Amino acid sequence: MPMSDRKLMLITGASAGIGEEFAKQYAELGWDLALTARRADRLEKLARDLEEKYQISSIVISQDLARANSVDTILKEIKEAGRHVDGVVNNAGYGLPGTFFNTKWKDQAAFMRVLFTAPIELTHKVLGGMAERGFGRIINVASLAGYTPGSNGHTLYASVKSGMIKFSESIQAEAEAAGYENVHCTALCPGFTWSEFHDVNGTREKTNEMPDWMWMEAAPVVEAGIRACERGQPVVVPGAVNKGLATLSKILPEPLGRAMVGAQSKRFRSTE
Ligand SMILES: NC(=O)c1ccc[n+]([C@@H]2O[C@H](COP(=O)([O-])OP(=O)(O)OC[C@H]3O[C@@H](n4cnc5c(N)ncnc54)[C@H](OP(=O)(O)O)[C@@H]3O)[C@@H](O)[C@H]2O)c1
Repeated sequence: MPMSDRKLMLITGASAGIGEEFAKQYAELGWDLALTARRADRLEKLARDLEEKYQISSIVISQDLARANSVDTILKEIKEAGRHVDGVVNNAGYGLPGTFFNTKWKDQAAFMRVLFTAPIELTHKVLGGMAERGFGRIINVASLAGYTPGSNGHTLYASVKSGMIKFSESIQAEAEAAGYENVHCTALCPGFTWSEFHDVNGTREKTNEMPDWMWMEAAPVVEAGIRACERGQPVVVPGAVNKGLATLSKILPEPLGRAMVGAQSKRFRSTE
C-alpha cells in the first residue's frame, strides 16, 4: 500500500545547495520526497524539518552516485517503500579541479559517472513508468558552462553540462513526439550560485573576488527550474545576467568566445 497519495520527487544531491533548495520548494508545493546524497545525517535532518513543516512524507537514501549500482539501489529502496517516482531532479555534482594532464583517470571516471552516466541511467529507468502513468517531471541541473567554450582546467565540466542540455532537449522532444503531454524534461542552467560548490572544489578564495552581480541565491534558480519544467520548456537559464551570458556565448564568433572565457577562467577554475 502506498503511504501517501501525493506525488514523489526524487532529488539527488539534496544534502546541500541547489538540491536542498529543490527539496524545500517541492515540499512546499506538496510533493513527497526521496532525498539522496552521501551525507545521511544532513538528509535525515532536512527530511524531518520538511515533514514537520509541510506534512509530507520522505525517504532518505544515502548513496554515492559514483558507485556502479547506486541508481538501482536508490530505485529499489523507493520500490520497497511502496512508492514510484513521479519526478526526478538530477542535481548531484561537483567540479573536479586540475587539468586532464594532471588528474587520475579514476577521478575523471567517477566525475563522469556522478554528473553524466548516473543521471542518464536514472532518467532511463524512471521514464517507462512515467509514460505508463502519463505524468513525469525531470529536471537536469546543467550549467551555464554548458554554453560557454571549454577552457583550461575542470576539463570535463563544460562537456558534461553541454551533454545534459542536449540530452534534456531530446527527452522533451521524444515525450512530445510520443504524445506524453504531461511528461516534461528541462535542463536548468545556473550561473554562479551560492552553495557549497566552490568550497568543495577549492575555488572559494578566487570566486570571492568575483562581483556580487554575477551571483544568484539558490531559491530563484530553483524557482526558474520548477516553473520551466511545469511549462515543458526544455532549457532554462535563470537570471538576467546569466541569460545575457548565454546569448553572448551563442552569438560571439568562436575564437573570440574562447579567448574571453580563457582570459576569465583562472578566476573560477583551478588547474592544480
Ligand atoms: N553553485 C554553482 O555555482 C553552480 C553553477 C552551475 C551549476 N551548478 C550545478 O548545480 C548542481 C548542484 O551543485 P551545488 O551548487 O548545489 O553544490 P553543493 O552545494 O556542493 O551540493 C552538491 C550536492 O551534490 C552531492 N554529491 C556530490 N558528489 C556526490 C556523489 N558522489 N554521490 C552523491 N551525491 C553527491 C552532495 O552531497 P554529498 O556530499 O552529501 O554526497 C551535495 O548534496 C551541480 O550539478 C552543479 O554542477 C552549480
